[in-house]
Amino acid sequence: MTITRDETVEINRKGWDKIASLFYGGTALPRYGPLAVTEDQLHLIDDLTGKAVLEIGCGSGHSLEYLYRERNAAELWGLDLSPEQIRFSREFFDSKNIKANLVLGSMDENPGIPENHFDCVVSIYSLGWTPDLPRTFELVNCYLKSNGVFIFSWEHPAYRCLSYKADSAEYVFTESYLKDGPEIDPSWKGVEIVLHPRVMSTYINRIIQAGLVLERLIESDVNMDVAREQDYAPDKWYSVPRAKLIPTTFIVKARKPK
Ligand SMILES: C[S@@+](CC[C@H](N)C(=O)[O-])C[C@H]1O[C@@H](n2cnc3c(N)ncnc32)[C@H](O)[C@@H]1O
Repeated sequence: MTITRDETVEINRKGWDKIASLFYGGTALPRYGPLAVTEDQLHLIDDLTGKAVLEIGCGSGHSLEYLYRERNAAELWGLDLSPEQIRFSREFFDSKNIKANLVLGSMDENPGIPENHFDCVVSIYSLGWTPDLPRTFELVNCYLKSNGVFIFSWEHPAYRCLSYKADSAEYVFTESYLKDGPEIDPSWKGVEIVLHPRVMSTYINRIIQAGLVLERLIESDVNMDVAREQDYAPDKWYSVPRAKLIPTTFIVKARKPK
């Protein structure tokens, strides 16, 4: 069964509205991903004094708040598909008395974000939700000023291929790495959702085709500084033993050419 872009957006908007609270502040800067290296360790993002930053898939707004607090960002914009996430981020920024422009929409369309305006665009564990990756990267390129920086993190494409087999207490490669395209999960975190498995070369080639220049690709080793006792359970999705075999997260830094 094929699923259209509009159906995907509708299903995922409804799904994310229901599960938004499960992710409140969960995957946000300084974290790039579960058990992964952090921005506090990597320093990929320079000082943003006087500069404008946009987060794609901003969720509850915690990454933008980090960039305001730790990098001194002057102008904050967040885009998210879920009205519930936008409501969470609105309440979060109001509670901190921080001004932020929050926009509702899917990242593969521009619902009113200024172009040639941003010094920095970030996306933390959100970008892989896009129904149209080439269009999303083209839009990022449009939003950035010349020499502006784009940084995103997402689950490593090989991570989902391993399963833990309790009877033999080992990890087994059970999924093809080569899947590339939408698939419906009827009960992801208990809701219907459309996922988009993609291979690493799809991300890299689409960045290049959008006209951005790749500066760094990081496949994160396990960050023992953030591992808690419960992260050692081998059957947990993000677990230390599994992340020692395949990184949970990849991080990309790219730049719009001058
Ligand atoms: C795992 S959350 C991460 C959000 C953020 N980093 C945080 O910690 O709150 C993924 C986010 O992507 C958003 N999302 C999913 N599909 C989207 C789309 N097509 N366009 C924009 N945002 C989308 C979801 O609503 C959700 O807020």
